[in-house]
This record gives sequence, structure tokens and C-alpha cells, in this order.
Amino acid sequence: MKFFENKDLVGLDIGASAIKVVQLARNKNKEGKGYELIKLAFKKLPPEVISEDGIQKPEVVAETIKKVFDENKIDNKNIATSISGRSVIVKKIKLPKMIDEELEESIQWEAEQFIPFDINDVSLDFQIISKSDGPDDEMDVLLVAVKKDRIADIVNLVELAELKPVVVDIDAFALENQFEENYTPLQDGFTALIDIGAETTCINILKGNASSFTRDASIGINQFHRNIQRDMLIDFEQSEALLKGHEVEGRSKDDIQPSMNGFLDELLAEFQRSFDYFRATAEDSPISNIYLSGGAGMIEGLPEFLNEKLGIHVEIVDPFKNILIDPKRFDMEFIASIAPMMAVVVGLGLRRIGDR
Ligand SMILES: Nc1ncnc2c1ncn2[C@@H]1O[C@H](COP(=O)(O)OP(=O)(O)OP(=O)(O)O)[C@@H](O)[C@H]1O
Ligand SMILES: [Mg+2]
Repeated sequence: MKFFENKDLVGLDIGASAIKVVQLARNKNKEGKGYELIKLAFKKLPPEVISEDGIQKPEVVAETIKKVFDENKIDNKNIATSISGRSVIVKKIKLPKMIDEELEESIQWEAEQFIPFDINDVSLDFQIISKSDGPDDEMDVLLVAVKKDRIADIVNLVELAELKPVVVDIDAFALENQFEENYTPLQDGFTALIDIGAETTCINILKGNASSFTRDASIGINQFHRNIQRDMLIDFEQSEALLKGHEVEGRSKDDIQPSMNGFLDELLAEFQRSFDYFRATAEDSPISNIYLSGGAGMIEGLPEFLNEKLGIHVEIVDPFKNILIDPKRFDMEFIASIAPMMAVVVGLGLRRIGDR
């Protein structure tokens, strides 16, 4: 009989390109680091089993997840996972001052005007951030709306993999969680956390310790792959090999430069659009730093390119920066080689039962 429930959750990031798992344990007095890595896994998914529109082949994904848990002997079945994409809306809104309980009752009604979906189709959550910068009788509230069918899909998927979904987070907040554990947020000015994955780009702009603006855009590295495939008449595997610096049929990385330029233009346009929305909703002080993660963190020269075009300092996230890892138990070189892609899953691994 167990007297104490295991409060740890296993972080499971079901990305469009890969399954990622991180289990952390609270760690006391070791090198001042708060958490230690217990389990880590990264397994690629075949292309197109998950698309921007959702999970296309749940059986394939569930099978992969099961295999990952078996192979890595992960016994804890309590999962924190997350959702990203167009079915997630996060908005900072101003409401008349009220207490949590009052807002709990009226949120459905208050939220309706801010959400572009039918209010009955979304699951709502909120957080009262602080006093507003505006009049004294107003407060800032972070409103989170996620399409119910997307939550049901991911819950069903995790259960199909014979695991227990305890927390369903959103990528933007997982990124933020990870960031707070590893970095010291700026007190003044804005920091943008940007995760560019295979299908989705997740942007979370922080002011100090709090999220000020988030947006998930439908652009990702698969767009780059599609450009390469179109321009060079090759398949996904070949374009992936080229992107990683291998030669394919006598062609090398230099040959993808024209496709790369097209992708970078699209990416830049998306950033400008997002930053314009941000400026329209927030104070117009500038973004001082970008912390870049996801597969984009692996693209050579991207930080420099963004830095030059946007005039903002760009740094690649190391989600394990402040996490203790035993080099006898883990392949440090492998971890370093996938680190930027593990930002969301580390944030999920930091979640605990009872977290909101
Ligand atoms: N070394 C590399 N160089 C360039 N691109 C890479 C490299 N390694 C992986 N990628 C690309 O990064 C992408 C995967 O990134 P990431 O793991 O962040 O995506 P994901 O989480 O699966 O997707 P999403 O968040 O959109 O659901 C793939 O498109 C892959 O081709
Ligand atoms: Mg991702």
C-alpha cells in the first residue's frame, strides 16, 4: 500500500515531428540546482501522422509513445502534456475588478467577446495578473481558451498509450516554465520566447515574470522542407538530410540557400505580424531579447539572421542549463545535440500534481 502519492509528473511533448519525454525530480542541495533529470527520451515520428490540423494517425502515435515508455523503463504513468496551434487562444484582457470566485462565475460571459470561437466549444481558464495600468477599478486578466475537441483528442491519445493525462498545458506556458527555471527574467522590458517546431511557431512575450502576449502561428520547419522539396524535387528524408548538413545526390547545404531565403522571408513576415499585434495590445516598449527554441535552434545562422533583421539580441535556449544531469547515466553529447527541441518538454516535466 502506498501512503504518499508520487507527485511527480512525466512531461510528454507530442510534437508534429517527434515524441519527447522528460522526467525530473526535485533535488535538494546539489550544486544549487532545483531539479535533476531522471528520464529522457526523444523519438522521431513518421511524417504526417500529426499535422497542423491535429492528430491524423492516433494509433501510430500511441504505439510510439508506448514503445518510448517501455524502452526507457518509465514507470510513472502520470503525464503532463500540452497543446499548441490555432485552437489555443491566450489574451490579456482588462476587466472590472473582482475576486477569483466572482470571475469564476462570470468568465464564460466575460470571455465571449474576446474569443473567435463559439464559447461553448472552448474550455476556459484565467489568471488574474495584477492591477491594471489603467483605471483603479480595472484589473488585467490572462484569459486562456482551448478548443474542447483538441483537448479531448490529446486526452484520448494519451489514454490510448495506456498513460494517465493529469495536466494538459499549452506550449507557451510550458516554455515559460522552462525559462523561469533556467534563466533570470528581465525586470524591465520584454523578453520573447519563440519556439519554432515542425508545424507551429509559439511566441510568448514576457514582461518580468508574467506572460504579456502569446500567439501560435502556423509556420514551422516543415514549410522549409516543403520549399526544399518543391525547389529541388526531392523527398522529405532527403531534405531533412540536406538540412542537417549531409550530401544528397551530389547536392549540399549550399544548394538549399534559395529555399532557405524563401522560408526566412515567410518567418520574418510572421514575426513582424505577431510583433505588430503585440504592440497593438501592449505598451510599446521594445522587446530586448529573443530566446529561440525548437528545431529552429538547430538551423545554422538563424540567430544571427534574426538578430540582423529584427535588431533584437537572439539567444538559443538551453532548457537543461539549470538542471542537474548525471553524466554517468546520460549521454551528454546526445542531450546537447537535441537540447533546443526539448524546451517545451522540460517545462512540462517541471509541472507537479496540484498545479493549476
Ligand atoms: N540539425 C537540424 N538542422 C535543421 N533542422 C533540424 C535539425 N534537426 C531537426 N530539425 C528540424 O526541426 C524540426 C523539429 O523541431 P521540433 O522538435 O521543435 O518540432 P516539433 O515539436 O516536433 O513540432 P511542433 O512543435 O510544430 O509540433 C523538424 O522539422 C526537423 O526537420
Ligand atoms: Mg514542438
